[in-house]
Amino acid sequence: MNEAVRQPVLAANWKMFKGPETTRTFLDRFMELYPAHSDRSVVFFPAAISISAFLAARSGRDDLEVGIQDVHTEVEGAHTGAVSAAMAAEAKLGWGLAGHSERRQEFGDEDAGVGAKLGRLLEAGLRPILCVGETLEERRAGLLEEVLSRQVESVLDGLAASGSGPWSDKVLAYEPVWAIGTGETATPRDAAEAHGLIREILSRRAADEQAATILYGGSVKPDNIEALLAAEGVNGVLVGGASLDPDSFAQICLARSDR
Ligand code: PGA
Repeated sequence: MNEAVRQPVLAANWKMFKGPETTRTFLDRFMELYPAHSDRSVVFFPAAISISAFLAARSGRDDLEVGIQDVHTEVEGAHTGAVSAAMAAEAKLGWGLAGHSERRQEFGDEDAGVGAKLGRLLEAGLRPILCVGETLEERRAGLLEEVLSRQVESVLDGLAASGSGPWSDKVLAYEPVWAIGTGETATPRDAAEAHGLIREILSRRAADEQAATILYGGSVKPDNIEALLAAEGVNGVLVGGASLDPDSFAQICLARSDR
């Protein structure tokens, strides 16, 4: 696929913020500021408890897509507190995150489990975003390429082994762990370099996998969005902190994108 025809994806990861009421208040304001655009996708990942409120409050604005932040590796079962990809599909969600660094660091998600979650999202017909990225120690030790290769390849190998095959509408998010919630952003050059590496890793695989959309995540803000979107190979962003404020996320979604 040609760079120019990849539609940018602007995604909001709300993490453990916003209950149903604050979700409605956010949307009232956001929908005033951001009219539907056909040249980009805007996707929200609210906390699971706020998803119904989101779906009700966006009424008539199906362009504001919704996803699940995390799913269990199983379809159903006695797993207190967890939700499954099948449930997310039943709730009519279109997207799911897998492998976010907070899941990897706080909840012990490992590459094999991330692959299993991605497989579940696919089975359920959701569009997954596979998050990958290195820690500061790994970057300083010169391990960027090795970490990205491990994270991407183990998931792809797992998918192939389970018969799920390459995923359609592939989306990855390069999220350097040192830039998440720290106010420290990768420079457009760092982002372009890492995105180039990911594309190189994908290029060793089936042609279908090379067509992936690759997002950047880590302290994206209204004042750095245009430079990041202009960086080579960056097809959109996954935003945490700056997506919690309707004004700042609307500015991010309205950013000019030539890609
Ligand atoms: P941040 O989070 O924008 O607050 O750095 C990004 C993410 O975790 O996806």
